This record gives sequence, structure tokens and C-alpha cells, in this order.
Amino acid sequence: MSPLRLVLWLSVFALPSAPTESPSYVAAVYEHLVVLNPNPRVALGRRAALEHMQKNLDVFEQQAALAAQQGAQILVFPEDAIQGFNFTRASIAGYLEAVPDTTEVTWNPCSERARFPDTEVLQRLSCMAQKNSLYLVANMAGIQVCNSTTDAHCPPDGRYQFNTDVVFTSDGTLVARYRKQNLYFEAAFDKPPRMELVTFSTPFAGRFGVFTCFDILFREPAVALVEELGVRQLAYPTAWMNQLPLLAAVQFQRSFAHAAAVTVLAANVRAANLGMTGSGIFTPWQEVHQHDMVGETGRLLVSRVPVLDPAMMADGTESTRLAWLPFSGHRRREPGLGEAGDAHGWPRGAWYLDAGGKPRSAETEHCWPGHENCHEAPAHEKPVEFHSVMMYDNFTLVPLQDTEGNLTVCDGSLCCHLLFRRSTAPSAELYALGAFQGLHVVHGTYYLEVCALVKCTGPDFASCGGETEHAQTQINFRLEGNFSTRHVFPGILGNGMVLDIPDESGKDSDGWVYMSRSGMTVGLVTATLYSRVYEKDNS
Ligand SMILES: *[C@@H]1O[C@H](CO)[C@@H](O)[C@H](O)[C@H]1NC(C)=O
Ligand SMILES: *[C@@H]1O[C@H](CO)[C@@H](O)[C@H](O)[C@H]1NC(C)=O
Ligand SMILES: *[C@@H]1O[C@H](CO)[C@@H](O)[C@H](O)[C@H]1NC(C)=O
Ligand SMILES: *[C@@H]1O[C@H](CO)[C@@H](O)[C@H](O)[C@H]1NC(C)=O
Ligand SMILES: *[C@@H]1O[C@H](CO)[C@@H](O)[C@H](O)[C@H]1NC(C)=O
Repeated sequence: MSPLRLVLWLSVFALPSAPTESPSYVAAVYEHLVVLNPNPRVALGRRAALEHMQKNLDVFEQQAALAAQQGAQILVFPEDAIQGFNFTRASIAGYLEAVPDTTEVTWNPCSERARFPDTEVLQRLSCMAQKNSLYLVANMAGIQVCNSTTDAHCPPDGRYQFNTDVVFTSDGTLVARYRKQNLYFEAAFDKPPRMELVTFSTPFAGRFGVFTCFDILFREPAVALVEELGVRQLAYPTAWMNQLPLLAAVQFQRSFAHAAAVTVLAANVRAANLGMTGSGIFTPWQEVHQHDMVGETGRLLVSRVPVLDPAMMADGTESTRLAWLPFSGHRRREPGLGEAGDAHGWPRGAWYLDAGGKPRSAETEHCWPGHENCHEAPAHEKPVEFHSVMMYDNFTLVPLQDTEGNLTVCDGSLCCHLLFRRSTAPSAELYALGAFQGLHVVHGTYYLEVCALVKCTGPDFASCGGETEHAQTQINFRLEGNFSTRHVFPGILGNGMVLDIPDESGKDSDGWVYMSRSGMTVGLVTATLYSRVYEKDNS
């Protein structure tokens, strides 16, 4: 194995013949190797906490300058990257700063330092934005004093502690404050009593929404920003622990941006021992990303991306790009197919993907198990169903026993179909098609419906659902499921953490959600339709 499994993957998707006046901007994200407090459960005084945080802010300062040199207009830093993790409610006290409500207070911490006490971190971030003349998004530990006599939610110690994102304009003004709604076992922090959808506006790209890490798996605020406010650009600080086969950081960032038809500026923490890595700049169609499980340095990613805020688009000329509606399915842009468009109207039904990846009529030309024109090996019996636990969920699966076929597997009322053709003999690498419908209850509670084609990690059925980044078998496929929600996130992962998107995805006339992909040049690790049924989370 290569000693350095570092992937910096520039997508080679055909670039559109976009109109030259198409607005764009330069975005940057920094994956930060956090300087940690070795004893996070022991309380530090304010001075010692500041000394610790300045070490991380020193790195931010250098990276902000490097980002600015490359023309960045907005820079996102990761969650927990200033203070680290594993604090208790009491031990984080020295790290907390009161972040004013930006809807009530206009404040430039760099220019008006004395206005609020104990705001050294806010001041330094503000000065970084001002000095480098860029919008800056960072995550820090916030405090808000409360009174339990007048506020029923106020914690007994008289203060809220919030996992807080802060946003500064390019002159250093604090313009947005977002408090993480969906905490991930964070003993130091409180869940905000009211959910807030937070956005900020920039002169170069219009409006952005902001949310944090685990929030991406929930309707509020992540999907609500997109569906209720029409936000199409997101700043996303995160500290995400990778979990294959379905939820590696960049894998889900890729899926979210594609499914929701948004740009995601995702900055993750770099902590190999905790499995944290995976950042990127994702438009609905392409990305610059990094996933590095062994390196010991941070990494700055900078990329020019198109403006997606509908309010910033010129009338008419951008209509094709705006045709990418959230959760409606898309067709990959290809030369000759014009710009991004909806998949609606594409033929479906009896087709298959030939060696060149072109859909062809199945009835006339193709061999399907059991058909008269089939000269290949006779079909297996209906494949045997088995169960295997994937990421703590009990999936129902069927193996891929032939070099091509049409499989079905169901779990509860969810059924999944897979039409496939593979490049290797079935004995070379075991793959299985799995379905899961139910409440996920380990490391968070959330209701899932998932159709997943996975490469098993070994030759045994029990290995299906295990973690691997590697696969040699190329597979042309069409995967579909009858989900009870429209919030379906298609994801395709290739050998060595290569990210991919479907050739097309969408909903067919009988309501099944599908995606298809053929002609990948790398082995297929997973292809998944991962859906969230938000309304059943409390079931
Ligand atoms: C934080 O806690 C987790 C779980 O207890 C542990 O695995 C991890 O090493 C800790 N990290 C730090 C930085 O203390
Ligand atoms: C809390 O509010 C009550 C009622 O307004 C007031 O009497 C009390 O002094 C407040 N307590 C604190 C700690 O401010
Ligand atoms: C695959 O199977 C499904 C379900 O049985 C069926 O609806 C579909 O027509 C089949 N496709 C092909 C190409 O045979
Ligand atoms: C998974 O579900 C099947 C069918 O309900 C059951 O027989 C099996 O014991 C379950 N496996 C685990 C690990 O819970
Ligand atoms: C999905 O399809 C299966 C098989 O046709 C059916 O039994 C099930 O009720 C369907 N589920 C939904 C949610 O429509």
C-alpha cells in the first residue's frame, strides 16, 4: 500500500460551455490539525485557555494569508478547531466568549475591541478577516448568561454554552452567529432552546447558509435552509469521524451537495487517531476535496466556483443551472448534452448499459437471465437473502452472483432494485445489494431508508457492510428504491476514496427514486441511495 494515502481529486467532469458572464467567486476551506489541550477535562483559567487557543489561531492566521494570496473571498475553518474536544461543561469555562446577537448588534471586534469584555478570540478572527479582506467562517465556544427564574430552559448554573459558528465580513464585522442544533454527544454544550436558520450575504456571491457537522443529517437546519429559505450555498464547519461504507465525511458532503443542488464549503478537522479527515469545496457537479487518513498536517483547499444564489443570477442566461432543483434528481453534464438539466424525460424501462456505458434496449439486444436470447450461463436460483450489520444497522442483503443481473431486496416496506453488469467474475470480489428501513439508534437517533450496493471486505456474507476503501471491480448499474421520502442522497464511491456522481438520478413515473452510472474507470466501493425520513425520527 502506498505510504501516503492522500487524495486531492480534481474532478474531470466536462466543464460546461458556460456563458462567460456567469458569476463566480473563489472559496477556501482549511482542514486543521488541531493543537489539543492534553487534559480537556481539567478546567483552565481564562489566561491558560487563551494561550492554548492562540496556538490554533496562529495557524489560522497563516492560512488566512495564504488563502487571500490565492484570491479567496471566503474562508471556512473547522468545528472545534480553536479549542479542541472532550471538554466537560465545567472544564470549557475558560474558553467561552459571549457572542452577541448579530440581528441586534452591529460590531466589528477588530475595530472596537473594548466594546465587549473577554472577546479575544472574536477580536483575532475579526482582524484576520479584515487584514486579509475576506469573509471568514469559524467555530468557537460561546456563552450566554441566563436567568432560570425568567427562562424555563436556562441550565441550573445560569448560563447557556453553545457550539457556535461565527461569520465576519471582509472588513471584520461580525455578521452571523449560528448555534449548533444537533449536538453529537458534546457534554460541554447546550442545545439551543430555539432552532435558528442562519444566513449571511456577501457582495460577491449573494447568500450563504451556515450549519455544523452532525446537522447535515437532519431537516433542521440543513434541509430547511435549502427548502424553506432557498439557500443554495452553505458554509459547513465540521469535526466528522469517518465511517465507511456509507458515511465517510467527503462521501456525504458530495452526496448532500449533489442531492440538494447546493454548494458546500466543508472544513473538517484533521485528527487521524479519531478518524477525522475529509474536507472540500463541492458544487452540485464537481469538487475539490481531500481525504487523508495518515498525514500529519493541515491542508488549505482553494477553488473558483459558480455563484448559485438565485438572486444573483442574471435572468434567463442561468436558467439551465437553476433547473437543478433540490431533491429532484439530475443528469450529469456531458459534452453534447448541454448544461445541467433535469433527468425528467429520459427514457426508462427495459434498458441496459453497454460496454461503452450507453443505454440500449434490453428486449431486442440483451441477454437477461431466463430470456430466450440468453447464451450465457443459466441464471442462478433466486439469490439467498442474508443479514449483516452495516454501521450498526441490520441490513437485508442479496449477493451479486452473476456477472450481470437484476436483483431485488426488501426490508420492511422499502424495496431496492439493482440492474448491474460487472467487470470481474463474481468469485473475484463479493458484492451485495442491501436494504435497510428503520430507526438508527447508535451514535445518534435518526430514521433511515437505505439501498446500498457494497463491496464486501472478504468472501463471506458476514463481511458485507464492513469498512473498506478498496475495490477492483468496475460496475455499470442502475439502482432504485421505493422510498417513503423525497430526501434521498445518492452517493458513489470509487477505489481509494474517489468521489463520483450519478450519470442521472431522479424519480420515475411510479415514484421510485433511481440513479445510474456506467463507465467508471475505478473499482466501485459503494453505490448508495441513502435517505432520511425526518418525520419518523421520534418514532
Ligand atoms: C476524546 O474522547 C474519546 C472517547 O472517550 C477518545 O477516544 C479520544 O481519544 C478523546 N480525544 C481527546 C483529544 O482527548
Ligand atoms: C432573575 O430574574 C428575577 C426576576 O426578574 C430577578 O429577581 C433575579 O434577580 C434575577 N436573577 C439574576 C441572577 O439575575
Ligand atoms: C428488473 O426487475 C424489476 C423488478 O422485478 C423490473 O421491474 C424491471 O423491469 C427489471 N428490469 C430489467 C431490465 O429486466
Ligand atoms: C437481523 O434481522 C434478522 C431478521 O429479523 C434477525 O434474524 C437477525 O438476528 C438480526 N441480526 C442482528 C445482529 O440483530
Ligand atoms: C415498495 O414496493 C414493494 C414491492 O412492490 C411494496 O410491497 C411496498 O409497499 C412498497 N413500499 C412503498 C413505501 O411504497
